[in-house]
Amino acid sequence: MQPEHRQRREALMSKIGNGTAIFRSAPSSVMHNDVEYNYRQDSDFFYLTGFNETEAVAVLAPHHQEHRFILFVRPKDREKEVWSGYRCGVDAAKEIYGADEAYPISELDEKLPQYIEKADRIYYRLGRDKTFNDKVINHWQRLMRTYPKRGTGPTALEDTAPILHSMRLVKSKTELEMMRKAADIAVEAHNHAMKFVAPGRYEYEVQAEMEHIFRMRGAMGPAYPSIVASGKNACVLHYVENNCQMQDGQLLLIDAGCAYGYYNSDITRTFPVGSKFTVEQKILYELVLEAQKKAISQIKPGNAYNLIHDTAVRVLTEGLVELGIIKGEIDKLIEEEKYKPFYMHRTGHWLGLDVHDVGVYQHGENPQLLQPGQITTVEPGLYIVPDTKPAEDQPEIDPRWVGIGIRIEDDVLVTESGHEILTAGVPKEIKELEK
Ligand code: GLY
Ligand code: MN
Ligand code: MN
Repeated sequence: MQPEHRQRREALMSKIGNGTAIFRSAPSSVMHNDVEYNYRQDSDFFYLTGFNETEAVAVLAPHHQEHRFILFVRPKDREKEVWSGYRCGVDAAKEIYGADEAYPISELDEKLPQYIEKADRIYYRLGRDKTFNDKVINHWQRLMRTYPKRGTGPTALEDTAPILHSMRLVKSKTELEMMRKAADIAVEAHNHAMKFVAPGRYEYEVQAEMEHIFRMRGAMGPAYPSIVASGKNACVLHYVENNCQMQDGQLLLIDAGCAYGYYNSDITRTFPVGSKFTVEQKILYELVLEAQKKAISQIKPGNAYNLIHDTAVRVLTEGLVELGIIKGEIDKLIEEEKYKPFYMHRTGHWLGLDVHDVGVYQHGENPQLLQPGQITTVEPGLYIVPDTKPAEDQPEIDPRWVGIGIRIEDDVLVTESGHEILTAGVPKEIKELEK
């Protein structure tokens, strides 16, 4: 994707004018003692460079006479590479990643000033690496101290996110191919899981079957810790223990997606462990399915992002009233969020290089309007969490509903004419889920 990384840098540079943008690689993180998790680059850093090593800094200086894209990287080190893997090194950073200049990371403090001293502002997103934040601020302060003498230099520090993340929100053709692949692999894994699940099997067995498919199809692995939740475990939104034996009569909620390259899928299905839904399970399932379909039907260019959530909330609230689980006038119940004990999360999130991808959902008073190339999940649910105490003006919860947790989640692309469900290959109709 080198040409595309270059195009992205050019697009960003055209928006930052005389500024200089600085990006920090993700840190490596410890699993235990001296063992580290597999490395994954920071998504912004990867989006602009394709470079996937830690201890790196990328600088974009569109106004600089000679170097507009500069990489600071770990130098080659034969001994370290024998132990912990190849390093690109300084020379190849130019050849492979197209940097106009590259330096060892140890020279950052010495070399960075020349790229920011003539900039009118520094673009930098303050991150979790406090030491690096301080480093950027210190460079800025030092330049500002000499500003009176020179009359040039960065007079502001601006967060890069609003500009960069609005770019990331709309997927390119190449990105879309990766997203489709991530979706297809997860679709295959979910279809397999549906056949595999049976009373007596354990949740972790289902997880293992699915993650086996992820890896066998070339995905890096799960996009997030897989959730395989039978019975009332489904009422814990991020249940990841996955250690229970599944019983006939329960529902199983599987929320699992994969990371293909750096791109993610995110699918949830809920279906009977045995052969049939119970009456109560079926009633609640139909309600969530209706909410999901109506919410998806709102996805087309020009519609407000929040319409997806508002649509799902209305369907669910009306259904909960009809079932006697909550009572009152619909608009008032929605305004007062009386559905929230049973539907406590949002209906979706942007999806891409991050599972909960970057990009805004609302611009102050103005809506974020959907546009072709965006991808969002649509994932309404209902959770009748045991021991839920109803509000004073609300009825007791009939025990017949208690312990049922349902979520249905698809990944939906906004197209020119409406939308495309990238994960439509996993069944969700009741007749398809019953054996
Ligand atoms: N699995 C995380 C989510 O659905 O948002
Ligand atoms: Mn999910
Ligand atoms: Mn999701």
